[in-house]
Amino acid sequence: MNVRIAPSLLSADFARLAEALARAQEGGADLIHIDVMDGHFVPNLTIGAPVVAALKRATRLPLDVHLMIERPEDSLSRYLEAGADWVSVHVEATRHLQRCLDAIRRAGAQAGAALNPATPTGALADSWNDLDFVLVMSVNPGWGGQAFLPHSVEKVRRVAQEALEARHGAAITIEVDGGVDADNAADLAAAGAGVLVAGTAIYGKDDVKGAIATLRAAARGGVRA
Ligand code: DX5
Ligand code: ZN
Repeated sequence: MNVRIAPSLLSADFARLAEALARAQEGGADLIHIDVMDGHFVPNLTIGAPVVAALKRATRLPLDVHLMIERPEDSLSRYLEAGADWVSVHVEATRHLQRCLDAIRRAGAQAGAALNPATPTGALADSWNDLDFVLVMSVNPGWGGQAFLPHSVEKVRRVAQEALEARHGAAITIEVDGGVDADNAADLAAAGAGVLVAGTAIYGKDDVKGAIATLRAAARGGVRA
């Protein structure tokens, strides 16, 4: 299966988001990754549901909304109404993971659980059937441009394996976010990653299209035929 590439708008110029969307779309991106931060779950504050709604109107790419917010159950509906196509909530941020995942699915979106680097994969043990994807954080969330944590490759492998066992052979989509670049893309793809999020490795370059192609080619090198 081909690895999908999701440019993260966090590394784009926030005064020129429409331009960043267009460059990703023309460059062949598969999804647009949107980092919502609340200043509590992570120290940073980024964008909220009205901006997600505006982005939805400005692109035909599916929106992958990564909620780095406390108690996502309180505001989830706003992101779903704004047109999010994929939504991930952090397992560390909610006491009601099942309720969140169910609400996402009922809205017709893809439901994901995000794991911080120190959160064990076992946190998903009772959630496998409620999930469409798992987001493995390969940095501690909060900022773009951080160094990739190498143990994430092994974690992706473990998530893939545990999902296969728990879902009786049905694979789960694994997304990896943080420090992803052409140097680690092959290892991640070989471990089972199906979606690679990249901010700096895409918007940090002048040639967005070229950066997406480079990442895709690197990932392809890791996918077994
Ligand atoms: C970090 C965000 C990431 C971030 C990745 O908290 O979740 O999506 O934009 O940026 P890079 O690719 O620069 O690490
Ligand atoms: Zn993210």
